[in-house]
Amino acid sequence: MRLASDFFRGETMNYLLYIAVGALLLLLSPAATMAQTKCPATASDVEGPFYKADAPIRERTGRGLTISGTVRSAGSCTPIPGARVEWWLANAQGSYDDEHRGALVTADDGGYRFETDFPPSYLGRPPHIHVKVFAPSHRTLTTQIYPERGRKAVALDLVVLAD
Ligand SMILES: [Fe+2]
Repeated sequence: MRLASDFFRGETMNYLLYIAVGALLLLLSPAATMAQTKCPATASDVEGPFYKADAPIRERTGRGLTISGTVRSAGSCTPIPGARVEWWLANAQGSYDDEHRGALVTADDGGYRFETDFPPSYLGRPPHIHVKVFAPSHRTLTTQIYPERGRKAVALDLVVLAD
């Protein structure tokens, strides 16, 4: 005689396990997708040949264009205090100089803000500001910001990937 307990043994049990795992994955996949679309990491961009480490801490390397936002962790969107944001850009003559290199450390709320000159276009490249973000327990982000001509402010969260 076949007992009810036999039903939960062997292949039948495996089959039920597959169904349960499959259902669980279906339930979790929208959450996983949302985690990826919520605060996606800022796209990286080429570093270029003019990066110099150890830029001095300061809030301004010129006047007329303010860049501000929050450094966040990708997926969770958690603000990251104590992250180091470095920027560098060409001067009005299209050369990279020490006056246009700066660094700051994000505040307790992950916020950052710096002011600089509007970058020139040079060698056929659109105006851009190079940025690096060093955040604890996160991968270093190297990217570029392309402000539209005439803009005086750019609001941009810099979103980094956890290690
Ligand atoms: Fe550049």
